[in-house]
Amino acid sequence: MEKLDVIVLGAGAAGLFCAIEAARRGRRVRVVDHAKAAGEKIRISGGGRCNFTNLEIKPERFLSRNPRFALSALKRYTQWDFIARMDEWGIAWHEKTLGQLFCDGPATQVVEALTRDLARAGGELWLGCAVEGVESEAGGGFAVTTARGVLRCASLVVATGGKSIPKMGATGFGYRLAEQFGLPVVETRPGLVPLTFAEQELVWMKPLAGLSIDGRVRHGRTEFAEGMLFTHRGLSGPAILQLSSYWREGEAIAMDVSLGRDVAAFLRAARAQGPKLALRTALAGLVPERLARHLETVIAPSGPLGTLSNAALEQVAEVLRNWRLVPVGSEGYRTAEVTLGGVDTDALDARSLQAKGLPGLYFVGEVVDVTGWLGGYNFQWAWSSGWAAGQAV
Ligand code: FDA
Repeated sequence: MEKLDVIVLGAGAAGLFCAIEAARRGRRVRVVDHAKAAGEKIRISGGGRCNFTNLEIKPERFLSRNPRFALSALKRYTQWDFIARMDEWGIAWHEKTLGQLFCDGPATQVVEALTRDLARAGGELWLGCAVEGVESEAGGGFAVTTARGVLRCASLVVATGGKSIPKMGATGFGYRLAEQFGLPVVETRPGLVPLTFAEQELVWMKPLAGLSIDGRVRHGRTEFAEGMLFTHRGLSGPAILQLSSYWREGEAIAMDVSLGRDVAAFLRAARAQGPKLALRTALAGLVPERLARHLETVIAPSGPLGTLSNAALEQVAEVLRNWRLVPVGSEGYRTAEVTLGGVDTDALDARSLQAKGLPGLYFVGEVVDVTGWLGGYNFQWAWSSGWAAGQAV
């Protein structure tokens, strides 16, 4: 039976990064993935331009039962370190918005650079190779049964990602493996995902499909001010994707489409100029006309501006500032960018990502209960956690 120092399960961002570091430290490393190609999510990420990190990495931008857990790895291998790596690779990049860094060219450059670094460091990559099972060995280490035979290793790194986009090879394998070894797993659910609405809401939402608006969206004390998009199923766009990670079924979200303007004052001025003006016509000065038409129907009382009192105009302003909607669900793992929850951080050492009480077993990347905001945070967690384990294996 072949014996390696390190086997990494999963050739995504976290697994490849970990394997490169371990191989550079002289470890005999093999990465095993059932997919035909490495780094598939990197390839499709950021609309094909890979939003590879964010300038504003902060612990409060990560969701976890213990949001401070990620800090150790994020501080040891920072966004600046990864930016330096991109520069070493000669991959051009730019800041798009809100500190989000994207490649100028195709995201495949990042995958190529990672696999090249792995090969140069002497690491091996087995693609298209299913992993059938893992057992711990009596004298320490692990036996990994793969479609190409049983491999033994001293350290096993689980980097099999989350459940999002099963069409691309995502499985719940890492969670099942954690449970097999008695590690707790925080309940998983789709994150960074469009929200869906009941038929009665879709009656008015569908005609708005494709309409993108700026505003704020709130859930409890969490608020995002980015774009929102109406779809045939409900709502999407960056602000909604961000909020979806905080939203739970049955709860309401509130949209503020006033963009900070004094809507009541705007409508009073419009009324003074044209008392016969329909409310929707006046509202079209604030929001896209298609949306104004719908808003008029949810606002009571409605009618020509001249018939509306100051108090009624205040009510209209309140609807624009605090438009309450109750999603019925989300589009689920089919389109979710990430999986919330995962291997409980309480069971892992924050510095090395090694499972407590299970020497040689490591979990890195999305399989861990650490989920970032939209905007490069999830890749930074993959690089940082992969790097940290790569120093320890
Ligand atoms: P990842 O999922 O990348 O890799 C896991 C690997 O394990 C895969 O190669 C898979 O085939 C393999 N695997 C799974 N089960 C296995 C098994 N049983 N046996 C063998 N191999 C197995 N983030 C960000 O920061 N910026 C961005 O721009 C984007 N954009 C984006 C777009 C889309 C459409 C999605 C779906 C996601 C993003 N993300 C993102 C999120 C980001 O892609 C994600 O957080 C990281 O890829 C996670 O990296 P991991 O290495 O942990 O898992």
